[in-house]
Amino acid sequence: MPIIVERDPALIGHLAAMLPPGAHGVDSAEAMHAWLSRNGSEYAVVVGPTIELGAAIDLCESMRYTRPTTSVILVRDEVDTEVLYKAMQSGARDVVRGDDPTAVAAAVGRAQQLWKALHGGQEAAGATGDGKIITVFSPKGGVGKTTTSVNLALALAEGGARKVCLVDLDLAFGDVAITMQLFPHHTIEEAIGGEDSIDFAMVESLLTRHDQSLMVLAAPSLPDARDRVTATLIARMMRTLKREFEYVVVDTCPSFDEQTLQALDETDECVIVATLDVPTLKNVKVALETLDLLNIAQGNRHLVLNRADDAVGLDAEKVEAILGMPITTMIHSSIDIAAATNAGKPIVISNPAHQASKQYQALATLLSADEEPTPVPAAGGVSAHTAQAPVVSSPRVSRWRRSRR
Ligand SMILES: Nc1ncnc2c1ncn2[C@@H]1O[C@H](COP(=O)(O)OP(=O)(O)OP(=O)(O)O)[C@@H](O)[C@H]1O
Ligand SMILES: [Mg+2]
Repeated sequence: MPIIVERDPALIGHLAAMLPPGAHGVDSAEAMHAWLSRNGSEYAVVVGPTIELGAAIDLCESMRYTRPTTSVILVRDEVDTEVLYKAMQSGARDVVRGDDPTAVAAAVGRAQQLWKALHGGQEAAGATGDGKIITVFSPKGGVGKTTTSVNLALALAEGGARKVCLVDLDLAFGDVAITMQLFPHHTIEEAIGGEDSIDFAMVESLLTRHDQSLMVLAAPSLPDARDRVTATLIARMMRTLKREFEYVVVDTCPSFDEQTLQALDETDECVIVATLDVPTLKNVKVALETLDLLNIAQGNRHLVLNRADDAVGLDAEKVEAILGMPITTMIHSSIDIAAATNAGKPIVISNPAHQASKQYQALATLLSADEEPTPVPAAGGVSAHTAQAPVVSSPRVSRWRRSRR
């Protein structure tokens, strides 16, 4: 994603509007270097017009030696021969006028193409190989899936993960964006029909940035889009995101619909959320049996007991006995959690010392342990983690779906 170096916040906004979504603004060369040291391989640096020419030229020269594959694009109010000459000598890739949005966008597009070419076809923005997909699921509504997803993604990002993407796969009623006080201009809906042309540039253009190292793929704004999001689209988007991000956290809706099943089929780690009530536990039990049947995330499932201190005649021990698996994380009921959500500042960032925040941080640490998920062969020989799995629904999911009709 491009980074803009510019002192005037209004000009940052103006330039960002000419660039792919997700561009990040900083006000100095020092801040840019600090950002790049955390975020690795951005493909373009756009130097705004208020950075005076001498400082801009110094920046180009330092980038030429430290990050030669990142293109520096100088945006100037006036472009004369002196500017062009100095820019050329310093290694700037392009010089464009700030009042020419088409030229700015084209220069950034060329930078992205160059990056791809220099990185052997890899997409820009930190492709470092396979990340981890973590899907948060529960067959019951209102148990805390979104709260868990959002806080987990933030805990991963705050804990030093270089890049985290939070995907809202509650396609009809997703509320990740509102929970994080984001107002996305683009959503997954815009990828509908584009199954055959998905690459990171396309997916990236749909992301909304939340703070430094967390990006969000928001759910459609209207519920009717859900039925048009195909399993193939989900599979391809998730694989593309997995190549670019260290962690992809997926929030889901409370049902085994086609899209959720596909997400689960792609997942490396499955976080299952339960609460202390019999209908929820009964449904979670059935869901676990279904995951067993589909051989999904065997050995990589983590049980979050939310509202774990509710006095309702059930306790953690009984939950473990009913579900036949240990509880990984217990989150107590707390008005602070709901209040933080309502204020648009989830508890992990608004109160990192809170007991619940510590639990989410511990879950993030557990999930970021450097272990490869163990591939478990399915009955038909299909592994839950086969890198070369077909892009359409896996045979076991399709078979299972057919048998339910
Ligand atoms: N541990 C908790 N203590 C207090 N309130 C909580 C807790 N966990 C979640 N909540 C609140 O419960 C409500 C439902 O939570 P959330 O939206 O995360 O559930 P969900 O499973 O995603 O629901 P849905 O199935 O509708 O998507 C929210 O208002 C949230 O703030
Ligand atoms: Mg939800």
